[in-house]
Amino acid sequence: MSAPAAASPRCRVLGIETSCDETSAAVVEGAGDDVTLRSLVILSQDVHRLFGGVVPEIASRAHLASIEPVVARALADAGLTLAELDAVAVTHGPGLVGALLVGVSYGKAIAFGAGVPVVGVHHMEGHLFATALEHADAVPPFTALLVSGGHTLLLDVEAWGRYRLLGATRDDAAGEAFDKVAKLLGLPYPGGRLVEQLAREGNPARYRLPRPMLRGNQRPGDDDYFDVSFSGLKTAVLGAVKAAPDLGAAKAHIARAFQDALVETLVEKTVRAVRLHDRDRVVLGGGVACNQALASAMRSRLEPRGVRVFTPSPRLATDNAAMIARAGLFRFEQGERAGLELNAYASLRMPGLV
Ligand SMILES: Nc1ncnc2c1ncn2[C@@H]1O[C@H](COP(=O)(O)OP(=O)(O)OP(=O)(O)O)[C@@H](O)[C@H]1O
Ligand SMILES: [Mg+2]
Repeated sequence: MSAPAAASPRCRVLGIETSCDETSAAVVEGAGDDVTLRSLVILSQDVHRLFGGVVPEIASRAHLASIEPVVARALADAGLTLAELDAVAVTHGPGLVGALLVGVSYGKAIAFGAGVPVVGVHHMEGHLFATALEHADAVPPFTALLVSGGHTLLLDVEAWGRYRLLGATRDDAAGEAFDKVAKLLGLPYPGGRLVEQLAREGNPARYRLPRPMLRGNQRPGDDDYFDVSFSGLKTAVLGAVKAAPDLGAAKAHIARAFQDALVETLVEKTVRAVRLHDRDRVVLGGGVACNQALASAMRSRLEPRGVRVFTPSPRLATDNAAMIARAGLFRFEQGERAGLELNAYASLRMPGLV
């Protein structure tokens, strides 16, 4: 009789995220896909609202002021000391380099002080793992759509660490398109959530905006089969705004038309990816995954085909350190350890691309 396989040891990982305008720290504990979130602290830098976008220098300074108390609070909430951790995982790219440097330097320093290894995490791989913290079945194989402020990525995820990049945006990211449209409609930054709210009051028949890169005659292998582009759609919104005799009366309808066009494009491209790779799960990630119209359109298209759609809660959809700790735990289990030369990178290739 063979002995039962030894359970892999449970690890405790502190995650640190400072790539943009959230200072965040979190602790996860577990092994493989059995991972529990023990604490999560997210401090959003509201100061950028005054400027209508993130000001890099202000972001770096704000991270410096808050990183120490945010990490201390995440450890206290988890009831752990630094010495009880197995690893410190920190976002080292992509993002604002000055902002990233604060997290990377701080993470390396506390890890060195505590004699614990440090692991560098790719921010978008973090977004890929976020949903798995809340849904035990949001694990590979699946089709992933990551829609955030800076990225729009359609991936086939065969296994953790094995990612086929199917499509991406050729210009604006989905969240960026929401934010720019919000600005055109006179809404504050970041405006994605406000555009969604406004769109709920809009009449879908009032305006019809183009679905860029979406034609019925596209075939797998065509270079625009999976890619998306939102700058033309944004220009169409600008045209509608300028032509509206009374913007106050028209803006809910324009918001609705914009959201409908963007959602239909993302859903159609995702359906293509699901079909091509014969997947039965779709995982959404990134701030735009908070959008209920996107989630429900995805479900109504895919659930009748027997495909389950998983979305993270808003706290785990937008930037947070829980996803960094979760992805870091995976990388740590793979044997990855960074040295003290770990650096921050504004752009960084996603690991595991096949
Ligand atoms: N309900 C919503 N509908 C549409 N967009 C939304 C909604 N909620 C948030 N967003 C958008 O999500 C984006 C923020 O998401 P996230 O924090 O993941 O992006 P980021 O970290 O700035 O970018 P990246 O991860 O690419 O570096 C913003 O563009 C915001 O407008
Ligand atoms: Mg992000």
